[in-house]
Amino acid sequence: MKEIKNNIYYCGLNDSERPLFDELIPLEHGTTYNSYLIKGSEKTAIVDTMYPPKIEEYIENLKANNIIKVDYIIANHGEQDHSGAIPKLLELFPEATVITNAICKNNLMSMLFIPEEKIQVVKTNDEILLGDKTLRFITAPGVHWPDTMFTYAVEDNVIFTCDFLGAHKTFDNPFADESEDLISSAKRYYAEIMMPFRNFCHKYTKMIKEMNVDMICPSHGPIYKNPEFILNLYEDWSSEEAKNLVVIPYVSMYGSTLELVNYLEKKLTENKINAKKFDIVNGDLGEYAMNLVDAKTIIIGASMVVMGPHPNAYSAAYLTSVLNPKAKYLSVVGSYGWGGKLVEKLTEPFANSKIEILEPVLVKGRAKEDDFINLDNLVKTIIEKHKG
Ligand code: FEO
Repeated sequence: MKEIKNNIYYCGLNDSERPLFDELIPLEHGTTYNSYLIKGSEKTAIVDTMYPPKIEEYIENLKANNIIKVDYIIANHGEQDHSGAIPKLLELFPEATVITNAICKNNLMSMLFIPEEKIQVVKTNDEILLGDKTLRFITAPGVHWPDTMFTYAVEDNVIFTCDFLGAHKTFDNPFADESEDLISSAKRYYAEIMMPFRNFCHKYTKMIKEMNVDMICPSHGPIYKNPEFILNLYEDWSSEEAKNLVVIPYVSMYGSTLELVNYLEKKLTENKINAKKFDIVNGDLGEYAMNLVDAKTIIIGASMVVMGPHPNAYSAAYLTSVLNPKAKYLSVVGSYGWGGKLVEKLTEPFANSKIEILEPVLVKGRAKEDDFINLDNLVKTIIEKHKG
């Protein structure tokens, strides 16, 4: 445990072994499950707890630090990487009350069988007193579950934002080093966990900026003693402003689609548009997701399998639509043997999106002269769309 401010202690754990988060995004630098212990003059609270495989280590750590009384267990969010240790804590501290909002209460009861009588429901601006410390609650649905809330330590001007403003990065020193590595970890985290809720991210970034807090304590990754650092990044990432970037996720079985992708990447780059291709079969989906944070245009490159896109291309299209990037334009390029619904299938996940579909380029077998003219026309359209 480490005191991070005036009787507020970090009591979370590193997890450098976990390869994937949500069985989806590779964890380059591991992650942490942050838990905080707040000692008031009369009462003690724990804000967020622990991921199930780490519960034993977490409890041992609390015992080793002589934590013998906990009055409140605050669940800012029901997902088990933070609420997983609540049942064990209630065994250890049977007098403790679980504090959470109404939506999270239902999640805790259904996912962890926490008895209803152990839970006290709070709403925005409700407070609990620990003696010389006041904890105020702010429900924040949408960043990233409907049950998310923030806890604000009033006298210390510290906010506990749960998953919001987090990063997948282990540490020895819990305070953010503001390095490029941290920016990259926070962006990878934002891309998967928060980007689907971009508008809510924008709203709560603004709200926390206006609160002028001294410290931001998220539930993954380091603590921000300089809140502007992470808030400015979120302000940019969650804004409507896309950058001059085209991302090209692709799968190519015999190289014909890759030839189209390489041609597009080269022509766009020659025209001063950043273009990055991503191998979606063997590549790092996290790297792709991070680039989606900024991209203005997405071009999906796919081979046909039987009568539709290669399944990995369909999966990439679906993932892209779920991540809800700010990109304004989408196109498809690909190669086929005898036809099928390549474009229809790959644009289907975007049916309810405002993204504009640019003329696709489909090629029978290898690209021929006319096909390169069609690719040139797609490049010209993108140059026009990216102007300004
Ligand atoms: Fe880190 Fe939504 O749990």
